[in-house]
Amino acid sequence: MNSPVMKGLTLNTPNHVKNAKLVAWVADMVALCKPDSVYWCDGSDDEYQRLCQLLVDGGTFKKLNPAKRPNSFLACSDTSDVARVEDRTYICCANKEDAGPTNNWMAPADMRATLNPLFDGCMKGRAMYVVPFSMGPLGSPIAHIGIELSDSPYVAVNMKIMTRMGKAVFDVLGVNGDFVPCVHTVGAPLADGQKDVAWPCNKTKYIVHYPETREIWSYGSGYGGNALLGKKCFALRIASNMGRDQGWLAEHMLILGVTNPEGKKYHVAAAFPSACGKTNFSMLVPPTGFDGWKVTTIGDDIAWIKPGADGKLYAINPEAGYFGVAPGTNYHTNPNCMASLDKNVIFTNVALTDDGDVWWEGMEKDTGSLPEHLIDWQGNDWTPEIAKTTGAKAAHPNSRFTVTAINNPALDSAWDDPKGVAIDAFIFGGRRSTTVPLVTEARNWVEGVYMAATMGSETTAAAAGQQGVVRRDPFAMLPFAGYNMADYFQHWLTMGQKLAASGAKQPKIYCTNWFRKGDDGKFVWPGYGENMRVLKWMIDRIEGSAAGQENIFGVSPTYGELNWAGLNFSAAEFNTVTSIDKAAWTDELKLHDELFTQLAYHLPTALKDTKEALEKRLST
Ligand code: GTP
Ligand code: SPV
Ligand code: MN
Repeated sequence: MNSPVMKGLTLNTPNHVKNAKLVAWVADMVALCKPDSVYWCDGSDDEYQRLCQLLVDGGTFKKLNPAKRPNSFLACSDTSDVARVEDRTYICCANKEDAGPTNNWMAPADMRATLNPLFDGCMKGRAMYVVPFSMGPLGSPIAHIGIELSDSPYVAVNMKIMTRMGKAVFDVLGVNGDFVPCVHTVGAPLADGQKDVAWPCNKTKYIVHYPETREIWSYGSGYGGNALLGKKCFALRIASNMGRDQGWLAEHMLILGVTNPEGKKYHVAAAFPSACGKTNFSMLVPPTGFDGWKVTTIGDDIAWIKPGADGKLYAINPEAGYFGVAPGTNYHTNPNCMASLDKNVIFTNVALTDDGDVWWEGMEKDTGSLPEHLIDWQGNDWTPEIAKTTGAKAAHPNSRFTVTAINNPALDSAWDDPKGVAIDAFIFGGRRSTTVPLVTEARNWVEGVYMAATMGSETTAAAAGQQGVVRRDPFAMLPFAGYNMADYFQHWLTMGQKLAASGAKQPKIYCTNWFRKGDDGKFVWPGYGENMRVLKWMIDRIEGSAAGQENIFGVSPTYGELNWAGLNFSAAEFNTVTSIDKAAWTDELKLHDELFTQLAYHLPTALKDTKEALEKRLST
């Protein structure tokens, strides 16, 4: 390469990298971003340890007490960089209508003109890491390859855990193989001699997708889905575009296996919005009263679902690790998750204990008391007294752990199987204090798509902005659908028609809500492992052994149809979480109306018809 900016800097392209498009692209990006050096990741354990040490030396990582938490680290971010930034996330396709009204849009040429000056020299004083990764088992026909260029070693080590990252990706790519180019910068170039900070980032942020050219450009943030580009950017926003073109689905869903005492196994995929219980549900431990039942994890956040030759839908988890919410996780709520966190973990924005371990809100349920002293995620002293007077949280509400799936004691034996698992049921579940009942089964595919499309949920700390506000979050994909949401609804309807035409049994569709609150403001449904009671009812419905009762939305369980062994939950309490309030639903339907008005362009007629039928049933 002859560019003047390349003086003194070599690409160091390793001998095993033979992909012409890749080599040319890295050269172009080096010329644009002007890093001091280029480092090609090989994905080895040795490399991981070296990068972690580099992060310790640079002050980004604190090594935790190896006696308490072997080979684990704590990173605390800049206080302005703690969650996904939805208002800074763009889908840049040629036509605005193709991004749809729920996505931010800019014309590709305009966005390129905006980003180019920002990326020019953005990596000065830093190394550029070339991170090769596969979403899905390496070399499998369902997997897709990405290459992330990032100036953040924190991103490189997280990608090592979250994806199949390393040298073998280059072999799969070969000379002509295709990949999704992902460029990421924290947007904090260093002048000569300028000292770095522990968490470099920029006030200006752009998370940009060009679906037509399948590119991702991320500027200014080092946190989570903003920066680990294999996850939301690739596996959801870009992959949803691939799925639309190629006849499959990329979804914000956990995938679990559930085996009954007779050894019969079912597979369920569930879409809950961010921080609404996917990780939790995917690792569920069946409670007392469910002897012989077993739940196993295939994935906790993302599912790629493709029709098989037999017409059934097969799901794989494209990820290899979990980037999960820490607060609220403890041995009561999620023992499998806690066991996963024993060793080899990266924690971000949790609190540090005086003996060099980690702590977050909810852990007091395990120990019976609050710790006397902590260093909170912002580096300040934290005591129960301070917390009481100032309300300061020890861990940020969106603090997270990054851990390999292999650590999970409930990992399903098929989690890595390129064939995927045949889905028997889909669940869509929002976080709603009121209105939405515990569980409803759709009477048919179209009603199920309607339920998913109109799902509302209270916003959480997973995204920057106001929390606890009810918004429509269709399919839990509001921030992740990479094209027009109305077209996405149609894609789901079409998938259903294809399923029906193939003669394969369509998966049942359910809508759940674990989060209804009582007058005291507390959750009425005990949730967590107790969600098994609802899951078992769904299986009884699949088997035809629970009659259920029809209501205006679909089919719901009678009190007697749930197994209550080992739990005191009265019929009156059950009524609190399942009752349907006509006035509340009349208001709720106005919100469906608003959504449908917003999505009027290309909104499938079948969904409008479903709404009309629902309104009729509600008014009689
Ligand atoms: P993302 O990683 O953001 O996509 O989130 P997620 O859907 O995987 O959510 P996760 O399982 O991490 O749960 C988020 C929060 O909800 C945690 O604080 C959990 O403790 C809490 N939670 C999970 N399941 C339940 C439940 O059944 N009932 C109640 N009340 N809280 C729950
Ligand atoms: C979510 O917000 O849904 C997450 C976390 O799973 S992040 O990877 O940051 O998007
Ligand atoms: Mn998620």
